[in-house]
Amino acid sequence: MNHQIISYVNHWLNEVNSHSLQAPFIYNLYTKFIQKDFNKSHFESIEKTRVKLLNEDFSVKTVNYGATSIVHANLQQTRVSTITKKGLSSAKVSRLLARLIEFNGAKNIIELGTSFGLNTMYLAHKKDTSVITFEGSEDIANVALTNFEHHQKSNIELILGNIDKTLPEFLNARIRIDFAYIDANHRYKPTIRYFESIIKRMHKDSILVLDDIYWSKEMTQAWNEIKAHPEVTHSIDLFSVGIVFFQPDLVKTNYRLMF
Ligand SMILES: C[S@@+](CC[C@H](N)C(=O)[O-])C[C@H]1O[C@@H](n2cnc3c(N)ncnc32)[C@H](O)[C@@H]1O
Repeated sequence: MNHQIISYVNHWLNEVNSHSLQAPFIYNLYTKFIQKDFNKSHFESIEKTRVKLLNEDFSVKTVNYGATSIVHANLQQTRVSTITKKGLSSAKVSRLLARLIEFNGAKNIIELGTSFGLNTMYLAHKKDTSVITFEGSEDIANVALTNFEHHQKSNIELILGNIDKTLPEFLNARIRIDFAYIDANHRYKPTIRYFESIIKRMHKDSILVLDDIYWSKEMTQAWNEIKAHPEVTHSIDLFSVGIVFFQPDLVKTNYRLMF
């Protein structure tokens, strides 16, 4: 049977809700920021852009990095509507990320994998934050930049190029990262590499979110390793995304929660 279906059934059988949560940190986070979908009305204009993109019939050059480097990257044309339908975080997940940023008060935020920038604009909802987002396809990045301009998002910077190269260069500047969303190359090795380099710039109140943790066996392997990493204390598995924390005074626990 398909990995995603087996994983979904397994998650459904093992997930718990707030009644099973003892730790105050997790109980508070879960009941007030994960379960409570309080920020829907903030993002109506971004959702109008999603609808517009769903109806676009032009194509953009996408870059498929696969497991190899940019030198061997395959270029192909894909319709904007297809990417919007299949390749973006859902509005539900994007709203969750915006609430997590509210929870930890993040100021310096990074996103690996911009695509058309809809999720980026959710991350940049608060004007006093700085969001750095990374994208490899120039055509896709141009659509995102148009969206940022249209929505007057001046707190977003897009870094164009292969993340394998642009991320280490960016992290060399020794920036402190409060929140990171990893949603780019969905392969085991790059995911672990990106995670390990980003956490060197994180602190005890930082939050890191990994998208599509059951998308493939490789992604689940990466998620299992990330949860077990010595610097990760609490982790929350919501099936669609995995969230990790670095609070040293918490006893290491993994939660599978309903979302
Ligand atoms: C799943 S999409 C991102 C979706 C977006 N975060 C959202 O939530 O709407 C992944 C994006 O990452 C880009 N990407 C994948 N691997 C990359 C790499 N190694 N360097 C730069 N961009 C990459 C792809 O071009 C694609 O636009």
